[in-house]
Amino acid sequence: MGYNPDVARIVLGVCGSVAAYRACEVARELIHRGHEVHVVMTPHATRLIAPATFAALTGNPVTVDVFDEAQPGQITHIRLAQDADLILIAPATAHTIARLALGLADDMLTTLALATRAPILVAPAMNPAMWTHPATQAHVQMLQARGVEFIDPTYGVMACGDEGWGKIADTPTMIEVVERRLKRTQELAGIHVLVTAGPTYEPIDPVRFIGNRSSGKMGYAVAQAAAERGAEVTLISGPTALDPPAGVKCIRVQTAEQMLQAVQEHFEACDVFISVAAVADYRPERVYPLKRKRSQRAWTLRLVPNPDILGTVAPRKGHRLVVGFAAETGKAIEYAREKLQRKGLDLIAVNDVLEPQSGFEVDTTRLTLLYADGSVEPLPLLPKRIAAHRLMDAVVERLHILAGKSGVPDRSHLPDSFKSP
Ligand code: CTP
Repeated sequence: MGYNPDVARIVLGVCGSVAAYRACEVARELIHRGHEVHVVMTPHATRLIAPATFAALTGNPVTVDVFDEAQPGQITHIRLAQDADLILIAPATAHTIARLALGLADDMLTTLALATRAPILVAPAMNPAMWTHPATQAHVQMLQARGVEFIDPTYGVMACGDEGWGKIADTPTMIEVVERRLKRTQELAGIHVLVTAGPTYEPIDPVRFIGNRSSGKMGYAVAQAAAERGAEVTLISGPTALDPPAGVKCIRVQTAEQMLQAVQEHFEACDVFISVAAVADYRPERVYPLKRKRSQRAWTLRLVPNPDILGTVAPRKGHRLVVGFAAETGKAIEYAREKLQRKGLDLIAVNDVLEPQSGFEVDTTRLTLLYADGSVEPLPLLPKRIAAHRLMDAVVERLHILAGKSGVPDRSHLPDSFKSP
C-alpha cells in the first residue's frame, strides 16, 4: 500500500492464446501511462510471442520459469508477488483460469498469483464453447468469490472461425478497468472504518450459551473490502471460525456487552461505522458459575435485553457515516426503513434471510441498500465479497456527499479527495 495509483508496478501475465499479441498493446499502453510493467509468461505463451518482444517493450526481464532468477539471492516469484500493486492476466486461457481457481502453482504465473496479496484482474480469451463450459464458469465464480475481478470477453468471430462470447476485451477497456482498480485500492486511504461482525454468545453456564446462526462472512467481507480500498480497518468480531482479513486489526469478543465496550472504545477514532454483527438481543439474567446438571424438571431461563450497540453509538455520530444491516424474514424493506429512521443511520443494507442463498452461513447474499434520503438501491444476488464492494461503493459516494455538504462539522481530518463534492 502507499503507492501512487498513477504510477503503479503491474505484473502482466500472458497465457498461450492467439490473443497473446494483444498483451503487447496492453504493455505498451500501460508504460505510456507511466506504469512499470513486468511480464510473466506461461510456457505456451512463448510459442506465440517471443519473451524478447516483451522485454524490449517493457525494459524489464521477462520471467517464464520458476527457476529464472534474475538476481541471485532473491526468489523472483516472491519478490514480484510482494512488490506488485496489481496483477493483470491478459489473455487468460481456460486452463490457467482453472489452475488459478484450484490454487495450483505449477509455473511462474500461477505460483506468483498464489503468493501475491495484490488485486488480480483476469481478461479471458478462448473459444466460445470453452468460455461457456460449466467447468470454466464454475472456476470463474470461485475466483470472483475470492475477489478476483474479470474483464469479461466480448462477442465476435474467433481466430478458429467460431462466433460467440470469448474474444478478449479491447485494450482501452482493459486499461480503464486497471486504472479504476488502482484508484479504488487507495480511495479510502486515511479513513478509519470500524466494523462489527459475527454473532455474540451469551453464556448460560461455562458450557452453554445463547447465540445465533451468523457465520461472520458478511462482516469479514465488508472489513476486507474496506481494507482493499486502503482504509485503516478495525474489526470487532464475535465468535467465528474465520481468519481476519489481511491488514485488518481484529478484536475478538464473546458477548454483546463486550462488543459494546469495544465499539465505544473505537468509535471516537472512526470515520465510518458499519454494524454487521448479529448481536443477541437478550442474555440470561443469571450466569451459572458451574455447569448446571441435567434433571427431569423443566428449566425456565429469564432473559434480559442486551444493549443495542448501534442504537447506543449512532446518536453520537457527529461527522461519521453510520451504516446498519438488517436481516429480516418478510416485510424486509418496511422493517429496515423503520430501523434506519429509529437508529438515525445514513444507510442500511437489508436482506431477507428466508430467501434461498441469501441468509446465514452461505457465501451469497441479495442486499437492498436504503438511504436516509429515501432512495433505494436493490443489488442482485452476489457473492458476499462482491456485495461488500458494492456497499463500499455506496460508502465512498456518501463520504463524498457528506464532505461536500455545507454546515457539516469539521471534515479537515479527511483526506483531500473527500473535501470537495
Ligand atoms: N444491532 C446492534 N445491537 C443490537 C441489535 C442490533 O448493534 N443489540 C445492530 C445490528 O448490527 C444491525 C442493526 O442493529 O446493524 C439492526 O439489527 P437487527 O437485529 O435487524 O435489529 P434490531 O434492532 O435487533 O431489531 P429486531 O431484532 O426487532 O428486528
